[in-house]
Amino acid sequence: MSKDLDPASFAGRLLHWWQDNGRHDLPWQIERSPYRVWVSEIMLQQTQVRTVIPYFQRFMDRFPDLQALAESSLDDVLSEWTGLGYYARARNLHAAARRAMSDHGGELPAQPDGLVDLPGIGPSTANAIVAQAWDHRAPILDGNVKRVLSRHAAIEGWPGRSAVEKRLWQEADLRTPRTHAADYTQAIMDLGATLCTARAPGCQACPVRADCLARQADRVADFPGRKPRKERPHRRSLFLVLRNQTDEVLLIQRPPTGIWGGLWCLPEVGSEAEHLPAPDREEIAPIAHEFTHFRLTMEFLHLDARTPDSVRDWPEGRWVRPGQGASMGLPRPIQILLETLDA
Ligand code: ADE
Repeated sequence: MSKDLDPASFAGRLLHWWQDNGRHDLPWQIERSPYRVWVSEIMLQQTQVRTVIPYFQRFMDRFPDLQALAESSLDDVLSEWTGLGYYARARNLHAAARRAMSDHGGELPAQPDGLVDLPGIGPSTANAIVAQAWDHRAPILDGNVKRVLSRHAAIEGWPGRSAVEKRLWQEADLRTPRTHAADYTQAIMDLGATLCTARAPGCQACPVRADCLARQADRVADFPGRKPRKERPHRRSLFLVLRNQTDEVLLIQRPPTGIWGGLWCLPEVGSEAEHLPAPDREEIAPIAHEFTHFRLTMEFLHLDARTPDSVRDWPEGRWVRPGQGASMGLPRPIQILLETLDA
């Protein structure tokens, strides 16, 4: 690495690591041009590198430059995009190519402000293009970089909150070196994609672990902060565990609509069953279950049903051995309960 970066700085350590451990032969890194960098950054917005590579190469064969892309039909662009997903990206790419031809003299703007005015280019993508295509200093803040920085600087809170994102932009700016813009950009993305991963980060091998505040606090897993869950209403409901002489349990099929529609379930008496004895939480522990719109605590009441009379209210029921419900459609918590009863 050239000597103008302090080897003790964040960028110096990161670039040194990247030389041996980063990616250097991605198709948009070799034969680098603003057009190729732009297309790659759009493809990489929601898609992993290894998926993008063959699409990128076919796209470059078909549309080798900005003019070729602008002069093609949208259908041709969409057909090259088939399978990559998020098709708005392809529509934006096509529209942006035409705008660059008509408004920017057939070139991509070399400034972030000019790039963000084109469809499909946000502030981080604009900076990633400027840094890689022209080697101009420009901090980036994509999902991977948010994770790296929220850990290194121990920034609390969910990065989707604007105050948190603003802090992260400041941290990104602080660490971005004046030189080596393209390599630094690739290096910090590579760190996030390969070492500072969401699950099982490889801190032992991390070049910036020494001053990583999350690591020092042994709280790497706490960053980035998660999106706050909407408070969901909480309901509780009582279910009956009726067992007959041969230890079978009564299941009834639920109505076709509503929660667990059509699945086989314990008889549900709901939350207003005053005439029944209280559930014995010692005997069968309640099960908490999360639905999209509410949380349900299922409580269970064990009742002897040795006489046929006790079950006449549920003629549609089926008596099932707790270990033999596997072939029936059962809600997950009922599966769990039957496994417990079987044990
Ligand atoms: N994600 C976005 N841009 C990228 C790049 N240049 N390399 C790897 N992953 C990326």
